Amino acid sequence: MEQTIINANGYSIFIGNDVFDTIRSYLLQYEFKENKIFVLVDENSRKYCLPRLVSNIQLFQQVHILEVPPGEETKTLQTCQELWLQLTNNGADRNSVLINLGGGVLSDLGGFVASTFKRGIRYVNIPTTLLSMVDASIGGKVGVDMNGLKNQIGVFSNPQVVFVIPEFLDTLPDRQMSNGFAEIVKHALIYEKHYWDELSAKQFREIKNWKEIIDWSMEIKNYFVTEDPLDTGFRKVLNYGHTIGHAIEAFSLQHDDEPLLHGEAIAIGLICESYISQKVAGLPQDELDEIIHYVLNNFDHYSFRSGNFDLIIDIMKHDKKNTGNQFNFTLLTSIGNSLINQQVDISLVRESLQFYLNIQV
Ligand SMILES: NC(=O)c1ccc[n+]([C@@H]2O[C@H](COP(=O)([O-])OP(=O)(O)OC[C@H]3O[C@@H](n4cnc5c(N)ncnc54)[C@H](O)[C@@H]3O)[C@@H](O)[C@H]2O)c1
Repeated sequence: MEQTIINANGYSIFIGNDVFDTIRSYLLQYEFKENKIFVLVDENSRKYCLPRLVSNIQLFQQVHILEVPPGEETKTLQTCQELWLQLTNNGADRNSVLINLGGGVLSDLGGFVASTFKRGIRYVNIPTTLLSMVDASIGGKVGVDMNGLKNQIGVFSNPQVVFVIPEFLDTLPDRQMSNGFAEIVKHALIYEKHYWDELSAKQFREIKNWKEIIDWSMEIKNYFVTEDPLDTGFRKVLNYGHTIGHAIEAFSLQHDDEPLLHGEAIAIGLICESYISQKVAGLPQDELDEIIHYVLNNFDHYSFRSGNFDLIIDIMKHDKKNTGNQFNFTLLTSIGNSLINQQVDISLVRESLQFYLNIQV
């Protein structure tokens, strides 16, 4: 399988199951001494991914491992403090490098720890979930949560390099694959009709060649990020599906015993925001039908009650992007074309939620 190289904002992304040689050369060029390479893992990336790096790259036998518990609860300032301490106690200096081997929790956390330690040391991302491959590992947003508020503390800081090894997905549970797939669907919708047509010709369960999909999904995210690295305008196109999706994710976290994953909530957001796009931004009815059909075929329908609309809308009101009774959306004028900063009235948001609930599955 060929290695793909994407040029990002001052760094490169290498994708392929054979990038081990590239990782080896990258590490050797810095002539790191023992313990100068730190690898951040969680229980799962340590168990499933680290052994493959150790057996392919000798230098990995000498690295210093930093392990944190898996899950979003780890993304806190307290964990940062523990990691900064471990770096200090193990002699990390400004020439050290931190390799984040794991999902988006680790690249957000490790990127922030590295970018603030001694005013910034190098860091490298080796994403191991589909979501982190196509989304979290690139774009330079790193940070942690505070008091349950997501990504409240953070900075913009790019990795030195990103290595993507698609075969790491072999051990990823199906639900986590589907979690990342929602962002892939979004990328296809916002970028070009041609990508959407290619993607929507296949169902999630039929996809075998993940590398090809990861290649173009990373290209798309990289395109929007490179145009607007500090997220001041154009990059908001990437928010498609997220205004309502985030609110449903937060609602589910507060009310469900087994809450929705981020991507599962975004899939609902994609349907509701496509409905709104058809009503006020000119998205053609046949494209709306296509989107609904594809999303419902690939993601489970979520049942909530219309009595919950007020709670969901209250959550949206607390989103800093929104003001008063109007919400700030990215909307599609057609598949592959979008408008940012569109004010949408509360009543239409409500209508879109009802539309989702009314869909017969
Ligand atoms: N910075 C950004 O631009 C950006 C973008 C999107 C999401 N994010 C962040 O990413 C985080 C979510 O990332 P995620 O979905 O990757 O979650 P995650 O990092 O929690 O990983 C999900 C689960 O998969 C396990 N896992 C990881 N790799 C595995 C493998 N190869 N085999 C088996 N299990 C494996 C992990 O241990 C964890 O239990 C959130 O904190 C979100 O805020 C950041």
